[in-house]
Amino acid sequence: MTQNNPPQRTIRSFVRRTGRITPSQQRALRDHWGRYGLPHKPQMLQLDDVFDRSAETVLEVGFGNGDTLVQAAIEHPELNFIGIEVHEPGAGHCILKAAEADIDNLRIIIHDALEVLRDQIADRALSRINLLFADPWPKKRHHKRRLVNAPFLDLAAAKLSRGGALFLATDWENYAEHIDEVMHDRTDFTLVERRKHVGDQPLDRHMTKFEKRGLKRGHSIWDWHFECR
Ligand SMILES: C[S@@+](CC[C@H](N)C(=O)[O-])C[C@H]1O[C@@H](n2cnc3c(N)ncnc32)[C@H](O)[C@@H]1O
Repeated sequence: MTQNNPPQRTIRSFVRRTGRITPSQQRALRDHWGRYGLPHKPQMLQLDDVFDRSAETVLEVGFGNGDTLVQAAIEHPELNFIGIEVHEPGAGHCILKAAEADIDNLRIIIHDALEVLRDQIADRALSRINLLFADPWPKKRHHKRRLVNAPFLDLAAAKLSRGGALFLATDWENYAEHIDEVMHDRTDFTLVERRKHVGDQPLDRHMTKFEKRGLKRGHSIWDWHFECR
């Protein structure tokens, strides 16, 4: 007997924006991909080989234009950084800035972060994950697209070292309430610090492009630091 199951639709946390890529972003992707880019493939990354050294690794999900990611990589040469973004112009901008700063401790993957975490990051390999100003998906019927939900959090818990850090931030009050609720029920993360502020007290990070956008709209900012058990 054949079953007529409808095909399973993957719930994505993003819709690919068709934003224009500038010639300099295009050039950066072409000229510096070999130095900064990593392809998505279903094979675990050997981070010591990728960075040609052994160091703690910070992973940023949805880095946008990457300005804050590059700034962090410049300020922390002792750490490795991996940035994941689906928006190609943003990745081009990030690689351009990394090349200008001539840093060696950053790599970029242009792909869905959930699949990168699942396919390419070994368990307990990360010391920190940043998810800053994730798309808020404000409509109720879209809440399932929010990254701060079980599929992402289960992967984050598996990929972070014990005692590793998960940093979250949002400028959407309803997403902040959602994050409080979802994280309250998790036994694999302990809250270290939560801040509500007006852009003046970012929690161990620099101000981001979307944070500035939220502040201009009069939004407050929420920051969380969780520790992985
Ligand atoms: C609201 S923007 C915030 C960008 C940046 N963090 C900032 O604060 O300026 C969210 C970003 O996450 C990216 N994104 C959403 N879901 C993603 C996923 N599953 N994997 C990788 N990037 C994702 C989007 O393309 C977008 O650039």
